[in-house]
Amino acid sequence: MNGSALLLDRDTQDDRTDFRDAVLAGLSARPRAIPAKFLYDARGSALFDAICDLPEYYPTRTETGILRACAGEVATLSGPGCALVEFGSGSSVKSRLLLEAMDRLVAYVPIDISRQHLDQTAARLRRDYPGLNVEPVCADYMALERLPDEVSAARRRIGFFPGSTIGNLTPGEATAFLKRVRRLLGTRGALVLGVDLRKDPRRLHDAYNDAAGVTAEFTLNLLRRMNRELDANFDLSGFAHEAFYNPVEGRIEIYVRSLRTQAVTVAGRTFTLAEGERIHTEYSYKYDEAGIRALAASADFRIGRFWSDAERLFAVVYLEAPDDRP
Ligand SMILES: C[S@@+](CC[C@H](N)C(=O)[O-])C[C@H]1O[C@@H](n2cnc3c(N)ncnc32)[C@H](O)[C@@H]1O
Repeated sequence: MNGSALLLDRDTQDDRTDFRDAVLAGLSARPRAIPAKFLYDARGSALFDAICDLPEYYPTRTETGILRACAGEVATLSGPGCALVEFGSGSSVKSRLLLEAMDRLVAYVPIDISRQHLDQTAARLRRDYPGLNVEPVCADYMALERLPDEVSAARRRIGFFPGSTIGNLTPGEATAFLKRVRRLLGTRGALVLGVDLRKDPRRLHDAYNDAAGVTAEFTLNLLRRMNRELDANFDLSGFAHEAFYNPVEGRIEIYVRSLRTQAVTVAGRTFTLAEGERIHTEYSYKYDEAGIRALAASADFRIGRFWSDAERLFAVVYLEAPDDRP
């Protein structure tokens, strides 16, 4: 397909309805919370790219280094004639390492919820890899039921889920997601998964509280998005980004904090936020090796390979279905 992203029965209006319903439900709930996937409109996706370049944000450069070292092995394990299916593809930068290493790819399927960014990324990939069949899918990967027909010609489907995006999911959601991925990838499927590892809490704290304030801008962009798409009236000077490591849960928690008592209107509904009250926007769970093994097993995957960096900051794992190995 050469046009914009495959819609899979959805369009921009559906995106907006989902956003409004989730925001109204999330602001009415206690504690207040809006799902992290809504952080990614076009500006949110661009801000995420800027986060990846920050000196404090070690995950992107560490994972890229691991992938650069293991891409050849991923290609050998997977064999020729595969389809590469990426969940939460963003700008598909790391994917290029696999696209260039894998032999005779039948298709590359980037799946992302950020529609405009996905279209731009697919256009760039088609320009840079004229021989590659790029089949973008704009969808929520937590609810995706099928892949484009083009992948059926592949010998195997290899999933790719980098960026430690798995950390945005609670453990229960992560298991449900991996089970869905196993189903979508089918017989002989495998998944290349990037996972951020537990480490010195100071290092974690700094990664989500950068000196330049880009992560804060990324979080507060959710309010801008509500102002623009849901006719809301958030005054951004009245809110702050808050991120900290919760050692008991093993996760970074991110919130928008109200700096004063204030009323806001969103899609015709008014909400009063007390001074100091928070809206939860994101988790980033950190795993150790045993946790990764347990997570893989919970979805009936086994770890075929485990790669890490010298400092053990980040891991890339090759997950296989036990009875589906080539
Ligand atoms: C942490 S970024 C990672 C981007 C890229 N894979 C990387 O490693 O740099 C997460 C990506 O997943 C997408 N995303 C988040 N939640 C999603 C969902 N539920 N369904 C589909 N895409 C989602 C976002 O739009 C964003 O591009």
